[in-house]
Amino acid sequence: MAIAAYQKCINPACEAEFDTNQAIFKCPKCGDLLDIRYDWNKVEVPNKLSDFGKRWATRDNRLDFSGVWRFRNLLDFCADEYKVSIGEGQTLLQRNDKIAAAIGMDAGCVHLEYEGMNPSGSFKDNGMTAALSHAMMIGAKSCACASTGNTSAAVALYAHSCGLKCTVFIGSGRIAFGKLSQAMDYGAHTIQIAGDFDDCMKQVQDVCSELGIYLLNSLNPFRLEGQKTIMYRIMEGLNWEVPDWIVVPGGNLGNSSAFGKAFAELLELGLIKKAPKLAIINASGAKTLSYLVNDRKLTWNNGDVNMTEINALYSDYTAKNFSPRTCASAIEISRPVNLKKCLRALDTCGGAVIDVPDNEILDAKAMIGKYGLGCEPASAATIAGLKHLIADGTIDKSARVTCVLTGHVLKDSDATVNYHKDEAGEFSNPPVEVANNLDDIIKLVTG
Ligand code: F0G
Repeated sequence: MAIAAYQKCINPACEAEFDTNQAIFKCPKCGDLLDIRYDWNKVEVPNKLSDFGKRWATRDNRLDFSGVWRFRNLLDFCADEYKVSIGEGQTLLQRNDKIAAAIGMDAGCVHLEYEGMNPSGSFKDNGMTAALSHAMMIGAKSCACASTGNTSAAVALYAHSCGLKCTVFIGSGRIAFGKLSQAMDYGAHTIQIAGDFDDCMKQVQDVCSELGIYLLNSLNPFRLEGQKTIMYRIMEGLNWEVPDWIVVPGGNLGNSSAFGKAFAELLELGLIKKAPKLAIINASGAKTLSYLVNDRKLTWNNGDVNMTEINALYSDYTAKNFSPRTCASAIEISRPVNLKKCLRALDTCGGAVIDVPDNEILDAKAMIGKYGLGCEPASAATIAGLKHLIADGTIDKSARVTCVLTGHVLKDSDATVNYHKDEAGEFSNPPVEVANNLDDIIKLVTG
């Protein structure tokens, strides 16, 4: 059993510590978020990141094959015998000069990290392989999550592969069919709550603590450990160099939190000299982070986050009966549970937060489809956001930028088909109808 890892409250006024044999998810003393921390003296960390690349040669070892566990020294919280893997993290970093040109950047400056290649088709598998390993380590029998869709798909897939009972909570009518179909197909008990994601998130926490069920949302700090590896793989794809910017969609803010932690640790370990900047992109219909950071100037403030600002906003949401709305259903979230950790990540890395409207998200999605690998709407918020950040000079056109494409294009084919059929979008490409007649068909093909 690894003894180097422990859990620690992120609140500097508390800093309570707990061992890793507990599934607590929030600090029992002050209710704040928990981190997984390591006593690095007890961990065998390579002298340089490129040493991890040597594990490609021993891919017959299932842990070296995994794009998460290949980096296991940097998330060393459980013994190998508990580590779960179904081949996650076989992702690729694509240099995309066509998109760079289309948004006014220099050639070689835009890379897309395609997380849609994971077993369940989204980045969530990075986190699930880690969290379910912890669940196995502590002997959990049953697990649950709230989800806008991808978490439920990943939980269902991984829970089934470990033999855990699995319940997923989804908002009524708010989930893309590709994702719902996965949860059902992978055998999850799927419960549709008459409410949105934020309602589901609240309910699942109560259900889990009441029934002793293992929670798999990104409140779970073990999940975020797995998501750190997305950053390691990006550096690997850049020959172990750090890009200037990482661009990521912001929903529940687990990814941005994990990325900030990854870089803070690499800096602490002396494995990198400088962290990249983080650009976090909200959808305009779900822009809690963008509003709080840009309009209310909310910061990490050494851990003393101004909760009055956050509570005032949430009370206002409640008073107005506000429910977020965006075509990027994956990030249709108004009370992100990792808000504080995300502010910490912005403090570590520096960067920017903006929000982008749905029409721009859909145009960017079609551009990524046409020139790149395709993705679901939430993922395309990255390119839509990057376009603004280039245009207003926040990001230099010669900066090296990596956008994280968080989910596969087939997750939400309704969004794709509706965009192309509508013909109003910049890249709309509707199917053309023709009579079942060779002459007419040839005319159309050659016309
Ligand atoms: N992109 C996709 C495709 C997602 O599914 C999500 C989150 C995000 C981005 C946002 O990531 O929460 O780390 O800021 N989906 C969650 C779910 C909420 O339930 O599937 P985040």
